[in-house]
Amino acid sequence: MVLNGALFLLFCAAARAAAASGGDGPLLNGNFEHKPNRCQMNGTRVMRAHAIPYWTVTGFVEYIESGTMQGDMVLAVPEGKHAVRLGIESSVQHELRVTRGKYYSITFSAARTCAQDEKVNVSIVPGDPPGELPIQTVYTSSGWDSYSWAFQATQDVVSFVIHHGDDQVDDPACGPIIDAVAIRTLNDDPPQDASSSNMLKNGDFEEGPYITPGSPWGVLVPPMDEDDVSPLPGWMIMSDTKVVKYIDSEHFRVPHGSRAVELVAGLEVALVQEVDTVPGSSCRLEFSVGDAANGCVASPMRLQVATTGGSKSVDYSSTGTGGYARDALDFTAEGTRTRVVFYSAGYHTTSDGTGTLCGPVVDDVSLVCVPQPHARRLLR
Ligand SMILES: *[C@@H]1O[C@H](CO)[C@@H](O)[C@H](O)[C@H]1NC(C)=O
Ligand SMILES: *[C@@H]1O[C@H](CO)[C@@H](O)[C@H](O)[C@H]1NC(C)=O
Repeated sequence: MVLNGALFLLFCAAARAAAASGGDGPLLNGNFEHKPNRCQMNGTRVMRAHAIPYWTVTGFVEYIESGTMQGDMVLAVPEGKHAVRLGIESSVQHELRVTRGKYYSITFSAARTCAQDEKVNVSIVPGDPPGELPIQTVYTSSGWDSYSWAFQATQDVVSFVIHHGDDQVDDPACGPIIDAVAIRTLNDDPPQDASSSNMLKNGDFEEGPYITPGSPWGVLVPPMDEDDVSPLPGWMIMSDTKVVKYIDSEHFRVPHGSRAVELVAGLEVALVQEVDTVPGSSCRLEFSVGDAANGCVASPMRLQVATTGGSKSVDYSSTGTGGYARDALDFTAEGTRTRVVFYSAGYHTTSDGTGTLCGPVVDDVSLVCVPQPHARRLLR
């Protein structure tokens, strides 16, 4: 026992010193497959802060194994065989070695275990106050969703914290299960085709959160406030509680490049970007609208496009097998800032009967504005 403890301390010390995250990918023990020391557990409950290698836990945290029963439900985990469950007022925390000033996106999987409104708080310490992430809506048939969340590093060593508060339920077993935590450095100023006069940043959505290779359900980008860092550089997700889905060409049909955005939550969420414009200039917004080849059958599937200066509905007839159409909106810029907004005008679910939310895919967006001859004449 003493020897065990000594070995454990050694191992822990080594683990914590090495808790760096050099490149993009899973955090060290980000999938919780390195087990906690048995002596620091009581049943499934983790009793010591550093019991799980590379992680610090507070409060009621359980270490759970895939296939164990909870009531009459068999627990599954999305990656490997283990995950953690956060009880009331508990957290898991991981130290990150980052570069001050740079932008990072964290991706993690979460599943709720009971039916109530569930939220987790994610934060970087030291950093801004925690951001609340609603996880009550389930966007996959497996019950697992991958979420992304982004931050700008203000120091070279920071801690990423997922905290679960008090849901006003007495059953600690109702907390969310967390697994597969990964990080990606974001390029906040993605390169653009030199010949392109596209005024939008990241119009092709190629820059975005980490998608775990082999994970078939994309990554959700949660709603954010205007001053929050977006996991999708350039773009804001505006909603109370709903998300958009970031999808990859390995598992979905994507109109252009290898990434796109699927608008899965109907009228309740908008994809937004704001750019500087010269008032009175004439602008053309071009975009692709399609379906992700995920069985989202709808004719029509209606995409709503709006700018400060004009709007239109685009009907795309989806057979759910993949495809897209190009469309455009011409308008006159009204002010020095123009807001570009996309949302799905309808609610859709996949035709496989699982009730999985789906919707139009938006990709390859460009905005080009030129001063109007009329405006030039007036200026002369
Ligand atoms: C372990 O948990 C059980 C059940 O909650 C409790 O009765 C017991 O006292 C705990 N043991 C220790 C060592 O904390
Ligand atoms: C998240 O953090 C905020 C600010 O600290 C707090 O007001 C809120 O209750 C927290 N929510 C959860 C779900 O823990």
